[in-house]
Amino acid sequence: MKQRAELIVLADEVVTCAGKGTPKNKDEAAQVGLISNGAVVLNDGRITEVGSRHKILQKWTGDRLELENTSVIPGLVDPHCHPIWAGDRKHEFALRAQGATYEEIHAAGGGIAHTVEATRKASDKQLKSKTLEILEYMMAHGTTTLEAKSGYGLSVEEELRHLEILKKVNRESAMDLVSTCLGAHSIPPEFKDDRAGFVRLVTEEMLPAVKEKELADFADVFCERGAFTCEESRQVLEAAKALGFGLRIHAEEFSNLGGSRMAGELGAASCDHLQHIHEDDFQALKDGGTIPTVIPGTSFFLALDVYAPARKLWDAGLPVALGTDYNAGSCLLPSMQMAMSLAVLQMKMTPEEALTAATYNAAHSLGWGHKIGSIEPGKQADLVVLNTSSWKDAIYRFGGNAVRAVIKKGVVLNTILRSPLGAPL
Ligand code: NIG
Ligand code: FE
Repeated sequence: MKQRAELIVLADEVVTCAGKGTPKNKDEAAQVGLISNGAVVLNDGRITEVGSRHKILQKWTGDRLELENTSVIPGLVDPHCHPIWAGDRKHEFALRAQGATYEEIHAAGGGIAHTVEATRKASDKQLKSKTLEILEYMMAHGTTTLEAKSGYGLSVEEELRHLEILKKVNRESAMDLVSTCLGAHSIPPEFKDDRAGFVRLVTEEMLPAVKEKELADFADVFCERGAFTCEESRQVLEAAKALGFGLRIHAEEFSNLGGSRMAGELGAASCDHLQHIHEDDFQALKDGGTIPTVIPGTSFFLALDVYAPARKLWDAGLPVALGTDYNAGSCLLPSMQMAMSLAVLQMKMTPEEALTAATYNAAHSLGWGHKIGSIEPGKQADLVVLNTSSWKDAIYRFGGNAVRAVIKKGVVLNTILRSPLGAPL
């Protein structure tokens, strides 16, 4: 007698990305676990079994999702994202085309401060609906779990408000959110002459309040010239660690201040950006078990020549993760497919490494490696059905959307691209 499954997903290729339960180095990433003519059995929102079509259909019966010319990959995991803000920064986009740099615009009081002003003015309802809209668009592009940073409030009240809205959004959206408090994103204008006062506000009031209300799993800081010095960043991260937050850091994006060494030393979960990391900083990340998360979209969107040395990071044995950095100023990229394309084109990752960085390793950087990031029995049934019999097309055909269907916790979602012209703003 065959066993009854809630859903059996069949495809020309199933890429499991299965692993040993720890972040993958480049040798492990090379093995994506491709099954030709594969099938995945789903029950109660989880994966029960995965294998060849022949083997699975001998054993299981039930509803089938069997679309022609498709392949299946794990749901994509975006481990670096700023999804909650208002307004836009089109004017900066145009200014940069005329030669202004991101850092010059930031130093002149634009940049993050511009988005903070617009976001503080936006109502809860506006922020919530705008965030839900972009999440739906990201899901339609295959992202099923998203790290969500606050960071455009920069006061205790506003950061709490944005994190509360993210909590509601997490309940209402099919997307799983992992929240991060990035209250130390920039010095707000009202603290311009009292940097130490703002760091004290973050460490003594904001982070404890966020912890008390259980609004974020992680804390983050923008360690960069023009933002927070390495010493200030250390104060923020040490306070966060003492409160029990997992740590993430924006480091070595425009300059090398030593943030990656500090991240390793403090045992941060993730150290992100890294365009200016030095090779002799790599060991600290290894020692700390810190995952380097690279973001090629930012270099691309800011038209910088420098990309993070992802090839060297993999070659040094580190497990690399990949994110979009979706935000109004430095990278308005909602698609992990495009992030993977840029990782291959500009960072010389193999397609297998790009997929691993966008699934398995990204899940580990969020502390969710046991739950998502691969198609393995017992894991949450988060799958993406691609509109191609060869999964690599999703990376090779860059700038498009190869998603045919998204399955979240076992449910086939009716994700609709609301705007054929692009992401909702
Ligand atoms: O990841 N680096 C800091 N935060 C963002 C930029 C945010 C913004 O410009 O609004 C980043 O690049
Ligand atoms: Fe960022």
